[in-house]
Amino acid sequence: MRIVSSAPGKVILSGEHAVVYGEPAIVAAVQMRTRVFVKEGRKESKARQHNNLIESVLSVISEQAPGVKTDKIVIEVETTLPIGSGLGSSASLAASIVGGISAYFHLGWDREKINDVTYLAEKMVHGNPSGVDNTAVVYGGLLRFERGMQGEANILQNLTVHKILQKIWLIDSGKPEETTGEMVGQVREQYIKNPVVMTDYFARIGSISRTLQYDLEHDKFSPDWIGENERLLEQLGVVGERAKKIIADIEKLGGYAKVCGAGGVKSGSGVLLAYHPDDAKFEQWLRSRGYTYFQDHIGGEGWRIDA
Ligand code: MEV
Repeated sequence: MRIVSSAPGKVILSGEHAVVYGEPAIVAAVQMRTRVFVKEGRKESKARQHNNLIESVLSVISEQAPGVKTDKIVIEVETTLPIGSGLGSSASLAASIVGGISAYFHLGWDREKINDVTYLAEKMVHGNPSGVDNTAVVYGGLLRFERGMQGEANILQNLTVHKILQKIWLIDSGKPEETTGEMVGQVREQYIKNPVVMTDYFARIGSISRTLQYDLEHDKFSPDWIGENERLLEQLGVVGERAKKIIADIEKLGGYAKVCGAGGVKSGSGVLLAYHPDDAKFEQWLRSRGYTYFQDHIGGEGWRIDA
């Protein structure tokens, strides 16, 4: 028997980092996906690049379903997502494995359980994630996500994908040297030093997410939230010099851009989300600069069994 299980990547439109502290995030699944093949065999994974993550996910699954013999299966991975660049590659891989193993061993886990187990795996890898990444890739579409604080349940709301969101560009500012967990940890250090100031930044990011949700629900779109959100992410200290320079150049050209994930400061800051009213002019500019960029349809399908 062979199971093919897949999950999309995600892009955070607004609310990264602040979402860890209970503010809402607006997040979408993308079309790019990770696909895993679960089959019988010796444990000699061809997916070396992903070995640590696979081991962590398998150990969480073994805790949740002690009868499952994960040493009797082989997991192969195929992905179109850039790894470790803010597009949810780790959540996408974890969800594909959790869902794939549930199907392979007939565990009968529903989407909610798959999301919960994927979150546990994300926690093992990243420390203190909010749950936004796993929720986005398991459920898909466009969502408002709010982490339940002090033991409350997370709030999850489906939003309709406004067509203007298909004009969003994703631009590679370079792979971050830091992991998501490290970036979340750096923000935590700032928060401990300056709780009042940081809480204010988080609240302002949360209010951008609320306004964006309102606009999307009322068929309105003004790209100003992108720049405002970016300035606040810079205040949080998650945007590196290279990304700041690209963003400043985009703004000079009449566009808008922000980091869209955990960010990074030592070198690259991962993928940037950008918008420009004139697609053709912007694409020509991106090409002339030699950037790696893509326009991916926002609102991809969540986790699923492919075969
Ligand atoms: C990472 O995609 C999003 C962060 O807000 C971390 C998290 O919410 O777990 C930076």
